[in-house]
Amino acid sequence: MIPAPSLPPGTTTVKAAEHNPGTMRFRRAVPMRSEVLRLFPPGVRGAELTGFPGRLPLWPTEREAVSRASEARAREFAAGRHCARSALGLLGLPPVSIPRLPTNAPGWPTAIAGSLSHAAGYCGAVVTWRRQFGAIGFDAERRESVSSEILSEIASESEIALLECESSHSAVDLATVLFSAKESFYKAHHQAYGSELDFLDVAFRILGPDTFEIAPRDRSDVPVDQSEPRTGKFLIDDTHVVTSMAWRPAGNDAARVVQ
Ligand SMILES: CC(C)(COP(=O)(O)OP(=O)(O)OC[C@H]1O[C@@H](n2cnc3c(N)ncnc32)[C@H](O)[C@@H]1OP(=O)(O)O)[C@@H](O)C(=O)NCCC(=O)NCCS
Repeated sequence: MIPAPSLPPGTTTVKAAEHNPGTMRFRRAVPMRSEVLRLFPPGVRGAELTGFPGRLPLWPTEREAVSRASEARAREFAAGRHCARSALGLLGLPPVSIPRLPTNAPGWPTAIAGSLSHAAGYCGAVVTWRRQFGAIGFDAERRESVSSEILSEIASESEIALLECESSHSAVDLATVLFSAKESFYKAHHQAYGSELDFLDVAFRILGPDTFEIAPRDRSDVPVDQSEPRTGKFLIDDTHVVTSMAWRPAGNDAARVVQ
């Protein structure tokens, strides 16, 4: 069972319902579907939400992040925090604030690695103990959302040529997998090292029916151990493409993890 929804201190269920007119209850995140969670190694927990018509409650330290945001953005941000708290609950942790860091990344509890994503009516969050996995990345995109024009801006000619040899899925789904995989990699890499990467700083290739590889290109300003290729998993369901990335702390990685 997923833990009860985690309301900010001082918030009652009635107050929460005010964010969702017409109902005294708000929709709860549910444990992540097994086909999505399977993209991650054992030890990762996740929660997800489809459709979030009302604004879910935020903790005071989280509200500033969306104080000037559109209603749609505020809803997706709150849905993300709700999923994140639900996922932390599945690890046995009590509800906590997850403020937005100056880098825009979520401020996870120190012992936790996590990642969250929202895309067109879907939101999901995954968390794990950092001692098990130094960094994790999760990304969801609406299917067929990456056109060939967008692809030409986020992939090199050789990556596109390799994708064209793949017949397992439609070209537009594979382009969306590439985009999502790079976003998942970015989220994990940023969590571990704090460095910025552009789409063309990494090379994507499909390794198997649900597996891909991301290899950072040679860059003089990136230390060698950050250039190690990483494998991730993907799933194309009826509506969305989702991708995952997780790696164990290796060598000094754990010490280098960005707080
Ligand atoms: C930050 C970014 C990865 C978000 O991806 P997206 O597909 O646009 O949106 P998603 O909904 O999947 O993810 C958004 C969430 O990512 C998280 N996020 C934002 N910045 C992050 C960072 N630096 N590190 C890790 N997670 C981050 C946040 O939780 C955010 O949601 P929130 O603002 O509601 O908390 C993307 O907008 C971006 O800036 N990318 C940088 C360039 C890049 O992707 N390079 C890829 C080459 S490796």
